[in-house]
Amino acid sequence: MRVSTDLVFGRDLRQQLRAVLADGDRSPGIPPACYADDDLLALERSAIFRKGWVGLGRSDRWPHGGDYSALDIAGEPVILVRNKAGVLQAFANSCRHRGSRLLAGDGNCKKIKCPFHWWTYDLEGRLKVCSRMENAIDFDPADYGLVKFAVAERHGFAWLCLAHPAPAIDDWLGDFAHFHGFWNLPQWRTTRVRDLEVDCNWKTFIEVFNEYYHLPMVHPESISRLYPEPDAADQTSGQYTTQFGVTEGVAALLQQSQQHALPAAPGLQGREAMGTRYTWIYPNMTYALSQDSMWIYQALPITADRCRVVQTICFPAETLMLEDFGQRAEHYYERIDAALAEDLPFLQQQQIGLASSYARQGRFSALEPSVARFAYWYAQQMLRQLDHRPE
Ligand code: FES
Ligand SMILES: [Fe+2]
Repeated sequence: MRVSTDLVFGRDLRQQLRAVLADGDRSPGIPPACYADDDLLALERSAIFRKGWVGLGRSDRWPHGGDYSALDIAGEPVILVRNKAGVLQAFANSCRHRGSRLLAGDGNCKKIKCPFHWWTYDLEGRLKVCSRMENAIDFDPADYGLVKFAVAERHGFAWLCLAHPAPAIDDWLGDFAHFHGFWNLPQWRTTRVRDLEVDCNWKTFIEVFNEYYHLPMVHPESISRLYPEPDAADQTSGQYTTQFGVTEGVAALLQQSQQHALPAAPGLQGREAMGTRYTWIYPNMTYALSQDSMWIYQALPITADRCRVVQTICFPAETLMLEDFGQRAEHYYERIDAALAEDLPFLQQQQIGLASSYARQGRFSALEPSVARFAYWYAQQMLRQLDHRPE
């Protein structure tokens, strides 16, 4: 981990970030310190993770009333829970008595009971039980509900926003439906979820997923030949970038496993039935949406050089009804695991290089438009935050 200096936090960092905004076609990448310095991660927490919407993956991970997960959103402990009416809710995972964490892991609950002195909240976050508090002066349990955050569900995905007030989710997503409506995403179902920790910055994990440049070097025998030159990245409105490419066969299967291909999603036609759309919804959620399947990653920082990743694999609901679905899905899991295993050593090498005191901002090839667009968005958010600090 590099040690931050006044130089990094001062004029130099601003200049480096401004350079990213200077010229869309000639801009350098994100300053390397932003991948390696924990003080800059602290700035990211304010500039990015506490300002806008943060992707939580597919909302069918919490299908029933009472289903919950204790999440770590870039250092903020949060409870996500579906209430009895079926609405996802989010609360600070911090008891209103003396601050204990309330829940850990995943599960199903009827109420949220603090393990320390048993203050107990309902699934709306209201304080319902607090024994021995009768003599507390001017104490009204109605004033001690859990701190609540905004949650949104769209297209089968879930998002959380720590900011009050939250920006409108439909503004955040802009014209997302225009590029993704063909797949009828609310009808897709999760079949496998994996959690892992990776020794790289959260941004590099998502960047490599969104560029075609590394495919022949990193995935020569597994998937590279499936991906001819993609379309240009689409012109979008909203806080995301997306790029479609026709594939040679099915991108979600290894080159040697193409005979196990599942049918395309019902109703898909034309080019969408023949390729994959790679989308990155800023800041932290990305996926590959193929004709037959979708694999999704969320990455969140633990430290500047380590991130927590959730991988989710989905198929259209109709595909799950096929008699041999389970067997054929294994081939899809094998491909997604194999490509990830091939990427990880390169990400670790990249992290070591990014931590060099001599690392400098690089340039992008024509095969990395989504990485360049994220860099632009990122620089905007960080500069907005820095503008509140003295130069
Ligand atoms: S800290 Fe939760 S009941 Fe005391
Ligand atoms: Fe890769």
